[in-house]
Amino acid sequence: MVDERVEVLFPGAEVDARVGELAREIKDRVPADVTVVGLLKGSFMFMADLIRAMDDEGMTPKVEFLQVSSYGLETTSSGRVKVIGDLPGSVGGRPVLLVDDIQDTGRTLKFTRDLLVENGADPVWTCALLDKPERRAVEIEADFVGFVIPDVFVVGYGIDYAENFRHLPFIGRLAPEGEV
Ligand code: PRP
Repeated sequence: MVDERVEVLFPGAEVDARVGELAREIKDRVPADVTVVGLLKGSFMFMADLIRAMDDEGMTPKVEFLQVSSYGLETTSSGRVKVIGDLPGSVGGRPVLLVDDIQDTGRTLKFTRDLLVENGADPVWTCALLDKPERRAVEIEADFVGFVIPDVFVVGYGIDYAENFRHLPFIGRLAPEGEV
């Protein structure tokens, strides 16, 4: 169901097509049996589609998840990344592809990449479906990026606003309060 506050930025079909291209880019640079680590919750829908697209490319990835959070119920990052639960134990000595829905300040991806490296993952590639380069606060550029976007508030395809809208099968822009 479409909420009037949400304007479609990337329809589901466009996301699907880009995810397929990303899998082809990944196949050219990453070992077929890479361990893909998805950051919860935001990456769950992207992960499901990306893993299937990697299978279409003949890859045989292992799949892990890690839950981290820096926004809580806020729309601005707290600046501190919190790991919830345990780090996947099976990354030591393994090639890892770290996957997130969005690279904003970059703190989550950088913190988590460093954590995986400290725990023996080698090498580590990073992949973000969305990238807001103008928001970057730390030095990191994902190795694989789906769409570069301006600094608008996005929801859907796993991405929330105060835990709403994750279910939307497309990526949308959430209008600021008072705009609609
Ligand atoms: C969001 C998003 C990314 C991160 C990006 O996660 O899913 O993981 O913020 O922002 P950054 O580049 O500024 O670190 P959030 O903390 O909201 O948790 P969630 O994935 O459970 O929604």
